[in-house]
Amino acid sequence: MRKNVLSGMRPTGRLHLGHLVGALDNWAGFQEEYNCFFMVADWHALMSEYERPLDIRRNSFEIVKDWISCGIDPEKSVIFIQSMVQEHLELAMVFSLLTPLGWLERCTTYKEQLREIKGRMLATYGFLGYPVLQAADIALYNAHLVPVGMDQLPHLELAREIIRKFHKLYKKRIFEEPEPMLTGSSRLVGLDNRKMSKSYDNFIALSDGPDIVRKKVYSMYTDPNRVRSDIPGRTEGNPVFIYHELFNPDKEEVEDLKQRYRTGKVGDVEVKKKLNAALNDFLRPIREKRKDLTDGYVHEVLAHGAEKARAVAKKTMTAVKKCLHQIAD
Ligand code: TRP
Repeated sequence: MRKNVLSGMRPTGRLHLGHLVGALDNWAGFQEEYNCFFMVADWHALMSEYERPLDIRRNSFEIVKDWISCGIDPEKSVIFIQSMVQEHLELAMVFSLLTPLGWLERCTTYKEQLREIKGRMLATYGFLGYPVLQAADIALYNAHLVPVGMDQLPHLELAREIIRKFHKLYKKRIFEEPEPMLTGSSRLVGLDNRKMSKSYDNFIALSDGPDIVRKKVYSMYTDPNRVRSDIPGRTEGNPVFIYHELFNPDKEEVEDLKQRYRTGKVGDVEVKKKLNAALNDFLRPIREKRKDLTDGYVHEVLAHGAEKARAVAKKTMTAVKKCLHQIAD
């Protein structure tokens, strides 16, 4: 029996190279081995964007285009939007009945976000319940495995706890206890050597065209001590070389550049020029695939995905309602 995999992303903006090396390339690989469910978590996005929910729908479509152009295959995986499958909210409601407030208030991600996200009123009932909805996402599809980054581990632990409590209360095991599958162990550094983040605008989006990529590469942070190109420079921890290593398949060229950089025999411009060429080669097939993806096609993929997701979700909800002796459907 193939195991089920579920993961999701919030549609809060364009995907970038960090998502690709962190998550999407893993997701694409899982498709051969598992039953995969890939979900656009639009309700989760709304939990922080509810005051100005303007772009969520557009971003959902763009994210799905990014996924498909990076090799997520609608023939192999179920691609769907959370809000198109009503059972997510239904199961989240049930889970909320048995989730103690203390578990949610203690959640490190919650505390951190309340502190760090400025300019939004997040001290809400809905935002506190973020991990409850995430637990429902996972349990609805009986996911054994959940590919996530480190930052999501507290949510996975809460999902396991909620599921265990459900089993204990109703004396019936209907869910798998989900295991995280850590993806993106090495977070890609931002172009300016800070953490890659939407608010710093320091990333290359998968949908950036060649002109934008060029501009971004030429403005990348390098060794700040190297004020002239005949001064030896550091390649370790230098974003330009980190990107070369990840995206330039010509290993000899990369070695040669590193060697010359360390000995003060190459200018930043040459290093960046070659990185720009490598990145464009890397992005070209993704861009080309993306060009063919119309909104109409994405619409079809999502309608089909929602149908498949609903079939599974409905079955789970029937089992859940039986446990609760409430069988209306
Ligand atoms: N919270 C996740 C994130 O921000 C997105 C998400 C929502 C998710 N539901 C999920 C991830 C279920 C894995 C499984 O990245």
